[in-house]
Amino acid sequence: MRKLFFFVILFFAISANAQINPNNVKSVIITNETSLLIQTNEFQLEVIPMANEKKNAIDYFEFSYFPTNNKEKWHHSYTVTSEKRMDLLTANSLKFQKYTGGNSGTTECYFIGNYIIEIEKQPYNIVIREFKTQEATKELANQYFNSTSILRDNVGLNWINEDHKISKNFDLQEDFFIGLGEKTGPVNKKGNAYTMWNSDVPAYGLDQDPLYVSIPFFIAGNEKTVYGIYVDHTCKSHFNFGAACNYSSISVEDDHLRYYVILGKSISEVSSNYRKLTGFTPLPPKWSLGFHQSRWSYKSQDEVLTLASEFKKKNMPIDAIHLDIHYMDACKVFTFNQQQFPNPKSMVETLKKQGINIITILDPGIKVEKGYPAYESALKQNLFLKYPNGTNYEAGVWPGLCNFPDFTNPNAREWWSQSVKFYTDLGISGLWNDMNEPAAWGKEVPSYIRFNREGHLSNLTQNRNVYGMQMARATREGAEKLLNKRVFTLTRAGFAGIQRYAAVWTGDNVATDDHMMLSFKMLANMSLCGVDFVGADVGGFMNPATPELFTRWMSIAAFTPFYRAHKMIDMPSSEPWCFGDINTEINRYYMQLRYRLMPYIYSSMQQNETPVVQSIANFSNLSTANYVNAFSDKFESQFVLGKGLLIAPVRSNAKSTEVYLPQTSNSTTWYSIYNDEQYESNKSYFVNASMAQLPIFVKAGMVLPEIIPQKIENTESKSDTLNLHVYYNQSGFYEGYLYEDDGISLKNKDLPSGTIRISGNSTKQEIAFQIEKTSGFNFPYKTIQFFIHGLTESTLNNVDDMPKPRTFEVNKQLFIANSANVFETKIPHFALKQDLYKVERIHKTTQSYFKFTCAMPQESFTLKIK
Ligand code: GLC
Repeated sequence: MRKLFFFVILFFAISANAQINPNNVKSVIITNETSLLIQTNEFQLEVIPMANEKKNAIDYFEFSYFPTNNKEKWHHSYTVTSEKRMDLLTANSLKFQKYTGGNSGTTECYFIGNYIIEIEKQPYNIVIREFKTQEATKELANQYFNSTSILRDNVGLNWINEDHKISKNFDLQEDFFIGLGEKTGPVNKKGNAYTMWNSDVPAYGLDQDPLYVSIPFFIAGNEKTVYGIYVDHTCKSHFNFGAACNYSSISVEDDHLRYYVILGKSISEVSSNYRKLTGFTPLPPKWSLGFHQSRWSYKSQDEVLTLASEFKKKNMPIDAIHLDIHYMDACKVFTFNQQQFPNPKSMVETLKKQGINIITILDPGIKVEKGYPAYESALKQNLFLKYPNGTNYEAGVWPGLCNFPDFTNPNAREWWSQSVKFYTDLGISGLWNDMNEPAAWGKEVPSYIRFNREGHLSNLTQNRNVYGMQMARATREGAEKLLNKRVFTLTRAGFAGIQRYAAVWTGDNVATDDHMMLSFKMLANMSLCGVDFVGADVGGFMNPATPELFTRWMSIAAFTPFYRAHKMIDMPSSEPWCFGDINTEINRYYMQLRYRLMPYIYSSMQQNETPVVQSIANFSNLSTANYVNAFSDKFESQFVLGKGLLIAPVRSNAKSTEVYLPQTSNSTTWYSIYNDEQYESNKSYFVNASMAQLPIFVKAGMVLPEIIPQKIENTESKSDTLNLHVYYNQSGFYEGYLYEDDGISLKNKDLPSGTIRISGNSTKQEIAFQIEKTSGFNFPYKTIQFFIHGLTESTLNNVDDMPKPRTFEVNKQLFIANSANVFETKIPHFALKQDLYKVERIHKTTQSYFKFTCAMPQESFTLKIK
């Protein structure tokens, strides 16, 4: 009885102890005048301002929470390299200043740049405020209570360190949350919650979460303010954007918390700063932007060669064929099945001569098999993931029981990088990394599996999300070093920063309209998070596609950076000619249109300081006018490729659709690419959306570069003539950009490259373009053709009753318009074959364009049209 009494007392004592005590701030100090160190009874927080370059403004606040007295705890990032972090730290020259006047003593305020950090002390809470227009100073202190707060803690920090779970709540003052990379669901993620945990999810549901890739970065805001948060943890993490609650929160399953608050005046500026923090997508080999044909699997050398010749026969362009798992001997990576592929090297060479590149799949699982060289050598070097007792982790995948290289171990990466020589020796420079979540039959990888983590042993929770990225890194770095040229790497799993190592495709989707429409949102979302080289399996991976779905998907995906048709095993053939004559014709047209616009696509991939694929929300920067439409489910699959080509995806059987053409800062008009019809921006329209006429619009003021090689076979098909399609802009702003190089050499200072930049202005009497050309680079064009769309005979002042324009000047040399360079009134330039187009068109206008041809000038020049 006495014993029981004792336990009851103990129980109450423990419960009383376990009571939650609020975290109170004990001290705030400015360390070295550059960061703020806030001590509470449980943890300490360091707030560090950072900048991209030396200037009078900051671009980031790094927030690092560590247990009290253990500030030196190890934080390791695969995304923000320590060199990068150091650069950002040292570039900042602004210092925190304490505000000493006027407040209660329970709050401390610190100024820096345009920002104020306000720290509530009892209990701990923190607010970042921003002065929109001017630098924050003591004199402005009176206003500061009215200034915009960017982020405001809601209930402080939940610091239950023993559980390795740290959560952070914020006041829910945002109207939108966008980002998180490869996620399903709506563009605006407000009201939803997500988890970061790379997963193998065949035929994933339309709202399923998580998928294969984890990017713990989002942008949030309202009409007053915008910011980004990148949570720099590869561990399992959770994001709640007000899902049935009145706060937002982030939480990590780790023993400390580090995130970057990314500043910027607009969504694009925040996304651009995120890119500066985590790295840009390197310019891919040009061939990899062509069309890729894949299926699980083309099973023999003959089948592959026949497939290639079919593309030639059908006059359809192609740059790459993918070999799925059947090329291997019993699915063992770094082998070829010698019966089915007796001479892979000659196959690769033969195809290369036709401009077709072979891409082989690589899975991380290494079959446990005595005598299999890859297995033996990794075993000998002790490179596999381990159980706690030191034996190798084993799981079943395609080859049977496998061990898995620990890609968080630099030695394993190096081993893999060298093993890739098996492929590069055969002339293969395209490597497809699959199953790298890592996937294993039964899905569950035990949580106690040990990872090397760059010499700091840790578990699955910490490392699963980064496994695929480190595999892609080893593949990429190995192949690039071996070949000393650009290589193409593709991955299914990834983490923030994956853009530096590989293109990403959205895994095992399904042949449905819903999946097709979802994919474009996902791609824009990935691009917003820095991953520009993205695509989805065209036609849908699982299940057969209807002819309408396949063709529709082919046409829309022609404008996504990674363009690959892929199909599941045991499904009917799904090459672009398998769906009937009319569909073949339409597929060919859109494939060719992609190749015609390749100069634009390649240049857009190079000009990637902001996302290459943008949702309307991002593109229009959410001015009030665009706000509602940008997030309306009617329009959220729409995307803009590059600086101003808007694609409005439509379901397979639609005949017409409603599109929303957003407001942008320097033009108020959009043009239909097919007939030059003009549409005022910030309005929605019902437009033709028949199979042969996917709604595509160009922003007024854009200059689209185009080539029309005589035969469009692959990205090597050349043309002597460069077409520049100028879309007349009333507001006089023009932007055009063309980047060229040899398409394959690694980008460095010695790589010869050239750019053509077009800007312009217009008055009532004339339109003048400046065409700035890099000197010293040999563009392959002899002739340049300007197509001025939207220029009617009444656009320019008709002072003398003569049809205009009738003169044009190149570098002041005057030409009089003659029959070769007047208005063209035949079938509009970008329309599909005349007969198909005529049948499908509903708009009657056949607006014409003014065409002017001249020899390609050697240097920069001006063109005036009067
Ligand atoms: C996975 C991939 C798929 C591939 C298949 C066989 O499901 O996602 O693209 O075809 O494995 O390798």
